[in-house]
Amino acid sequence: MSETRPRRILLGVSGGIAAYKSVELVRRLTERGCDVQVVMTRGATRFVGPLTFQAVSGHPVRQDLWDETEEAGMGHIALARWADLVLIAPTSAHCLARLAHGLADDLLTTLCLATDAPLAIAPAMNPHMWLHPATQANLAVLKSRGVRIWGPAEGPEACGESGPGRLLEPPDLAALVVEARSGHKQPCHLRVLMTAGPTREPLDPVRYLSNRSSGQMGYALAQAFRAEGADVTLISGPTGLPDPSGIRVERVETAQEMHDRVLQSLPGQDIFCAVAAVADFRPAHAATRKLSKDKTPKPLPLEATPDILSAVSSQDPRPFIVGFAAETHDLEAHARAKLAHKKPDLLVANPVGPGQGFESAENEAWVFWPGGDRRIERMPKGPLAEILVGIIRERYEHRGGS
Ligand code: PMT
Repeated sequence: MSETRPRRILLGVSGGIAAYKSVELVRRLTERGCDVQVVMTRGATRFVGPLTFQAVSGHPVRQDLWDETEEAGMGHIALARWADLVLIAPTSAHCLARLAHGLADDLLTTLCLATDAPLAIAPAMNPHMWLHPATQANLAVLKSRGVRIWGPAEGPEACGESGPGRLLEPPDLAALVVEARSGHKQPCHLRVLMTAGPTREPLDPVRYLSNRSSGQMGYALAQAFRAEGADVTLISGPTGLPDPSGIRVERVETAQEMHDRVLQSLPGQDIFCAVAAVADFRPAHAATRKLSKDKTPKPLPLEATPDILSAVSSQDPRPFIVGFAAETHDLEAHARAKLAHKKPDLLVANPVGPGQGFESAENEAWVFWPGGDRRIERMPKGPLAEILVGIIRERYEHRGGS
């Protein structure tokens, strides 16, 4: 495990039914070598008994700012200094609001003000509460302060409704904790150019060759860079996703258009991430009118599209380049071959197949660079993107310093 990973985790548990999942989270974190201390709000103790957390964490559970024994030695300050990372899971709507307003009316919120460790929250609440403008405004405040927002996931909830508001699963949260960089995040002043989504290569005005990319992975990466302060330009193929806020989005259709727009936007960029699933071939002739069955050439002549990643790699000077590779088999061999052939500085390979990689809200990744690699297990694309941004920034800084 890297020295930069947080080891001492202060887990805040606020009041919500998802608090029962935090017991498993403690177990997952301790299995991964983390030392976990738990602080519960009064509401949380209505759902899970402190003894349960004490048993799984191996530490007494703190609940009360006015604990005379603990506070004889300013226990809350000691706890705030002890933590490498503070994670609140689940974070209820009420807890989220108190954090946004800087309240310090119980032990957990006081600790959050007193610590200089990074703070991550894993929200869990009813979908209407999550989508309420008050909650979203509080969330925006926390994001602007650099608080890491892990989740929520979408799906059926204990209240019987379905939508955004589920706590991320304990293995996903444990992976985020282990992968997250400890210490302060320096604001990112980088200029990042990114491609995302599929391309469409027309055969005639109504038919095209394309692939299953939904754009979710590229948009998540663009948002994760933006959240760290980067100036992001996203050249997107056709997707059903809305333009992410704070990001310059340019929509294109074909590989040629994506290629041309990338090269136009390239000067001054620090990082280029090629997340798009660019079609490798296009019909050699695109008819201007719909082809009838008997007029469609068989077999269909194809020609190669321009390779955008290789075109950027051959520029001088060139930005730091991140390639992606979607593989159905022999992932490592194919990824290493693409690293050598297309010459990105870092390559993110992901397995794709039914329900995996493409068109899915989740992904897993194996990251390669000359002389190293790192595996990231399957999780939602948002948190995965945060981890990737951490790795990309580390490798970028390493390149700058070497
Ligand atoms: O969009 P989602 O549904 O969220 O799915 C995400 C994803 C699976 C599409 C994404 O994570 C991913 O793997 N993107 C790259 C897919 C791909 O095209 O891989 P490839 O092995 O064919 O290409 C390798 C690299 O070359 C990629 O960085 C690609 O952008 C680039 N390339 C490929 C062809 C081409 N003509 N020009 C390119 O720049």
